[in-house]
Amino acid sequence: MNIKKLAKPNVRALRAYQAKEIPCKIKLDANESPYGFKVLKSIRTNKYPDPEAKELRKLAAKEFKIKTENILHGNGSDELIYNLISTFGGPVLYPVPTFTMYGIISQALGEKKIEIPLDKYFDLDINEFIKTIKKKKPKLVFLSSPNNPTGNSFSSDRILRIVKQSKGLVVVDEAYQPFSDKKSFLLLLKKHKNLIILRTLSKIGLAGLRVGFMIAHRDIIHEVNKVRLPFNLNSLSQKIAFDVIQDKKRMHSFIKIIKAERKKLFHEMKKIDCLKIYPSDANFILFRVNPVKNKVSGGVKNADTIYKNLLKKGVLIRNIKGIIDGCLRVTVGTPKENAIFLRNLKQLL
Ligand SMILES: Cc1ncc(COP(=O)(O)O)c(C=O)c1O
Repeated sequence: MNIKKLAKPNVRALRAYQAKEIPCKIKLDANESPYGFKVLKSIRTNKYPDPEAKELRKLAAKEFKIKTENILHGNGSDELIYNLISTFGGPVLYPVPTFTMYGIISQALGEKKIEIPLDKYFDLDINEFIKTIKKKKPKLVFLSSPNNPTGNSFSSDRILRIVKQSKGLVVVDEAYQPFSDKKSFLLLLKKHKNLIILRTLSKIGLAGLRVGFMIAHRDIIHEVNKVRLPFNLNSLSQKIAFDVIQDKKRMHSFIKIIKAERKKLFHEMKKIDCLKIYPSDANFILFRVNPVKNKVSGGVKNADTIYKNLLKKGVLIRNIKGIIDGCLRVTVGTPKENAIFLRNLKQLL
């Protein structure tokens, strides 16, 4: 597969912005202020961040057991989705419902988008996918697995069939993979040149820093790197992300707690009569509220009213009306937050 040919002609003709680091004693080449503030021990605010995030990429590559040349850093994975669509263009194919940014960015960039509804188990409609891939030849396929907002992972054999059948690139967005017991697709990168994995630190404690990674064949990294803004990841984020990944014990202990809390929350919610709870491999739970009519007042309790009344009690969850009608999505919080959510939910129902 010739990745260069797949890139849009204008990107193909580009050269990546050169922000070379030249060793010197006095750096006066980049219109930076000579006066800075040391926010953390080793961070100076007056100098631009490392454009290539070398230290962070090297450490993350070690974590993912890949080479540094196979990883690109983004200001969150949102930015990498944007960069991917800027680089390769459309048609962009993805299932629905899924993470809304695939559609929003495609549309913002004027690229054609193709949406295929998930089957009744929230899995990929594989026949429809294969048919569409053959007919429409999408440049990019986005598969969020585990999927947001449904919480389930797609069948890995279906994802693999899509990877094998595509003449374009297939992005497996593993934003929620740390909460799943299923295997990551990272292991298959060597076998499939058109496979791209997205990872983010946002779901595991660093959403405020905006750090995401794309892991792919070096030819893909090379093309996408041309549309990346030179200083896309600020010094503070690079440094804190580095420290947190290095001290991964703490991160893993938080993931363990969230997984245990998800299990508890799932079982408690299951006991509530008028709810249907969907199994989740992510750090949130999707649930359906079957409307109930109050025989005395005549009022109806449904997803909308539960959402509003929870908010009145100070508990904010996500109403996904318009995406999956009648369903709500709750993020797994601390044990105390989850207990408050559950108590209020039980009271309301
Ligand atoms: C599937 C999926 N991918 C990517 C993102 C964005 O992550 P980031 O914060 O790294 O931009 C989200 C955020 O909700 C998501 O659900």
